Amino acid sequence: MADPWILSYEGYDPQEESLREALCALGNGRFATRGAAEEFAADGVHYPGTYIAGGYNRVESEVAGHTVSNEDLVNFPNWLPLTFRPEGGEWVDFSRDQLLFYRQDLNMRDGVLLRRYRIHDGAGRETSVSSRRIVHMHQPQYAAVEYCITPENWSGRVYVRSLIDGSVMNRGVERYRQLNGQHLTILRKGPVAPEGVYLVAQTTQSRIEVAVAARTRVWVDTPALHRLDLPAKSVDDEHIVGEEYSFPVEEDRTYTVEKVVALHTSRDRGITESGLDARLAITRSPGFEALFRTHKLAWQQLWSRCDMFLFTPGQLQPEFSPEQLILRLHIFHLLQTVSPNSIGRDVSVPARGLHGEAYRGHIFWDELFIFPFFTLSLPEITRSLLFYRYHRLDMARRLAAEAGYRGAMFPWQSSSDGREETQQLHLNPRSGNWDPDHSRLQRHINAAIAYNVWQYYKATEDMQFMESHGAEMLLEIARFWCSATTFNEETGRYEIVGVMGPDEYHEKYPDREEGGLRNNAYTNVMAVWCIDRARDVLMLLRPGRRNELCAMLELTDDELERWNHIANGMTVCFHDGVISQFQGYEQLEEFDWAGYERKYGNIERLDRILKAEGDTPDRYRVSKQADVVMLFYLLTPKELRLIFERLGYPFDDDTIERNMAYYMERTSHGSTLSKVVFSSVLDRIDRTTGFQLFRDALRSDIGDVQGGTTPEGIHLGAMAGTVDIVLRHYAGIDVTGDTINFTPRLPEQLKGLRLPIKYRGNWLHLEITQEKFLITVEENGPQPAHILVGGQLCEINPGESREFLLDKVES
Ligand code: BGC
Repeated sequence: MADPWILSYEGYDPQEESLREALCALGNGRFATRGAAEEFAADGVHYPGTYIAGGYNRVESEVAGHTVSNEDLVNFPNWLPLTFRPEGGEWVDFSRDQLLFYRQDLNMRDGVLLRRYRIHDGAGRETSVSSRRIVHMHQPQYAAVEYCITPENWSGRVYVRSLIDGSVMNRGVERYRQLNGQHLTILRKGPVAPEGVYLVAQTTQSRIEVAVAARTRVWVDTPALHRLDLPAKSVDDEHIVGEEYSFPVEEDRTYTVEKVVALHTSRDRGITESGLDARLAITRSPGFEALFRTHKLAWQQLWSRCDMFLFTPGQLQPEFSPEQLILRLHIFHLLQTVSPNSIGRDVSVPARGLHGEAYRGHIFWDELFIFPFFTLSLPEITRSLLFYRYHRLDMARRLAAEAGYRGAMFPWQSSSDGREETQQLHLNPRSGNWDPDHSRLQRHINAAIAYNVWQYYKATEDMQFMESHGAEMLLEIARFWCSATTFNEETGRYEIVGVMGPDEYHEKYPDREEGGLRNNAYTNVMAVWCIDRARDVLMLLRPGRRNELCAMLELTDDELERWNHIANGMTVCFHDGVISQFQGYEQLEEFDWAGYERKYGNIERLDRILKAEGDTPDRYRVSKQADVVMLFYLLTPKELRLIFERLGYPFDDDTIERNMAYYMERTSHGSTLSKVVFSSVLDRIDRTTGFQLFRDALRSDIGDVQGGTTPEGIHLGAMAGTVDIVLRHYAGIDVTGDTINFTPRLPEQLKGLRLPIKYRGNWLHLEITQEKFLITVEENGPQPAHILVGGQLCEINPGESREFLLDKVES
């Protein structure tokens, strides 16, 4: 039976290799390396990539006579290369040799990638190889490979080559290849005494030094494990450093090559000079087995806090289910992208993880989908990630001022210093044209940041963070929204114009040149929500702190009075009984969905299809992703009703259902985030379709459903979104009120769910079946847990459990 901890691939398929590399990447929140084979450099099939959290560099490129400047998450020196050849033979090459067997297993419980293969070369020699690879989760400077070679039917001499390859470039995304991908200069390299080699590279503009040191040893297995004392022949190329060993081998004995690597950067803390630190780390490093032991322990501890266990009540053995495997895969990649090792590192979550180069490693509103998981498992991580935004608050103020606004306007795409990183032009790979890109007008990113601050506070009651940093962000964002609002004399209402909603298919009105739309409902309602929260936070602060902040920000009663007017008089447009995605939506044409499906099959990326036809989705009622529906995703019906009624608009019992039906028919789900949102909202309305979309969302990356985007990096927002559906809907956790509320309800396809969460200092262990909900407060918790179950308050002491029958729990 398949193991729900192991993602396995049987057989070697060059076409699928880049997808496997992304899905089998290993990382520790500080750096990650794609699951590429040790034996190959980037060659069209393989793409080894190592990315360091916050490791950005800016370069200029010439495109169609223009100079464009891009900041990329850099592909740093490849520490993987390890290969062998028999005497008189060639280095292993899967395209030449005959592969008799190939298997790759990502063991997520232990955080180890295993590869096994058996190869037949031109001279009739058969050799088996098995390797284990880790990127250390507790000592985040270390990574290691153990590579075992067994000559099956021959004896002779074997040559082993172990390198650090600094010749790498950013070449992982085909459509960026005409841009400059050269980010590194090699500063120095050479041997390490008493053993090993090192290489120091520096990014060309941001001047981040990255040092990699490697130590390679060889062991033979029989009679007892015994280290071979071999002289190393050095390899020293312009950008590459390494060692070669050769030794006699006997048929049917196993020779183990162990490569331990240390990686340090000039941005690390507690260091002197990265090259020296890496060299010292490698001389002090234990071997693979000892590193693996502590690495496994770190993963064990993380899983004890983060696992979601699906089970069938009454059965002793866990059953295998694809949902279980994929949920773990998603949690695994979340923890590899940000982990306790990320804390204090001035980083946030690149939309595509540390797993590839798509979107250049930039940070988007996807934080909104990713933070809730951390907030309920490792809230100290969310806190650290929120600082990424706080440290860029001044830049956001500058961006607001440059655009003629007040307060803080965070960029749609952010990376090192928080300037706007969104391109003005975007290459359409279907047509080969560079189309104008207005996506920077997605000002709703600011609502996402405010929402994240507020959610973190609600789940943790971390008033210290709120007083010292959170409140300032909320107030500056609210101020931005108010300054971006204009009063319409005709309607007597406030409006926000020139923005884009989350649906990136609508960048502008079809008959207009300039980008942006009027009164995007999601933006406007969330702006009101932000103002509400900013006013709440003023009430929450100690008077002394409130006065300090108001003085520092020059926030006056007059300004607060204007906030009040806006929060009571914002525009929301309606048509045909539904909320209009933006003003004038009803004037757009309906789209021929069936016709296009017949013609193109998969039409998720309708924007590219239409633009390649010389048309534009701007003309049609088509959405790439949830837009109006985002409101139902983020805010409870009660919250929405309060806002709508205060604004003088209807919000009846059927509003959500009506809008869902309308927009469901008009959404292509061209973003992997979309099905997460629809599934989540449908969970309250139509559980069958909701669960179907949950399953679809689970398949986004493992099935590479967008046909080629996952190899360029996982979709971390969608991964986290699926985990969040389990937390928020199946476990029914709601932290938006003053006390956590549980209304668990498993879909009929799931029998049992067990998971831990952390809420205001207490670890709560939840066990949910179709009939019952059992909650246990972990021993030694700081205080009794006060929780609501179906709105009913109960107090549970540390070490105690309480069981609830679900048919008695109100949803
Ligand atoms: C989506 C955005 C998302 C971005 C990064 C785009 O395709 O439309 O909503 O933030 O990808 O994941």
